Amino acid sequence: MKYGIIIHGGAWDIPDNFVDNHLDGINNALKLGYSLLEDNNNAIDIAEKVVVLLENDPTFDAGKGSFLNALGKVEMDAIIATDDYKIGSVAALNNYSNPIKIARAIYDFDGAVMLVGEGAKIFAEQLGFQQCKVEDLLVGRELERYLKIKKDATFVPKDAFRRKTRGTVGAVVLDKKGRMAVAVSTGGTPKKPPGRVGDTPLFGAGAYIEKDKLGVAATGYGEDLIKALISKRVLDFFDRGLSPLESTEQAISFLSKNVQGLGGVIALGKKGVGLAFNTPRMAFGVQTDEIDSFIGINQKDKEELSKQL
Ligand code: GLY
Repeated sequence: MKYGIIIHGGAWDIPDNFVDNHLDGINNALKLGYSLLEDNNNAIDIAEKVVVLLENDPTFDAGKGSFLNALGKVEMDAIIATDDYKIGSVAALNNYSNPIKIARAIYDFDGAVMLVGEGAKIFAEQLGFQQCKVEDLLVGRELERYLKIKKDATFVPKDAFRRKTRGTVGAVVLDKKGRMAVAVSTGGTPKKPPGRVGDTPLFGAGAYIEKDKLGVAATGYGEDLIKALISKRVLDFFDRGLSPLESTEQAISFLSKNVQGLGGVIALGKKGVGLAFNTPRMAFGVQTDEIDSFIGINQKDKEELSKQL
């Protein structure tokens, strides 16, 4: 493959009446990403712009549409990285419309790999990013969910992945000049404890990338994805000679067997595309110079795509 993009919009039990919103959101993001690719843009700019679009779409648990934590606040995580081990990552960030833009600013700043909470806010303010109101990120449905589960003492965040809900967003890009980038953004999990950091901003867990190999983005229940070091694990399988598809499948198999985790991964590089998930659904889209635009959400869609991989 010479160039391409793969996107996900979360691995969860996406309800039937929400499938079209997911497919539309992924389709819009894929169209944007592929047109930027065709226009010879840089992989990192494409990955960032695609994730901004998905953060602005309330369908997804990232930016607008983020879950509320146990205190009824929005705390978001994001990461952007390129294949030269350059990384920008932000965690437990309150009330910014596009956390991925702040991750990108940290990437460009080069004085830290990751900033969290208050420190990330100070950094963002210094660069002129404006905080938004929690209401700007809050979708009415999420307030209803919060008020319902707030009273439910038996609810644990992992339940969200078995219930009808929404997910993290991510993109992996290989541009026409052979540069690779990965970007991931999330509002985390519903009713998460304040200060909780998920897999997304952790290099190796929520995302991983190595030159001339693969970029990987993960989604799902973050605690388990961290334990499995899921994105790096995909590269470990790839290094043993497995294809991108086999590498993602083996990593998800490890997640299921060893940590009983729930989630999905997407991967892309010169040797091709891979994706796998053990949740009922994962919204995804892929287009490369070898694969026509393909949007899917069910396991059977993944199987259909796999015939081309
Ligand atoms: N995978 C997103 C999270 O658990 O925060």
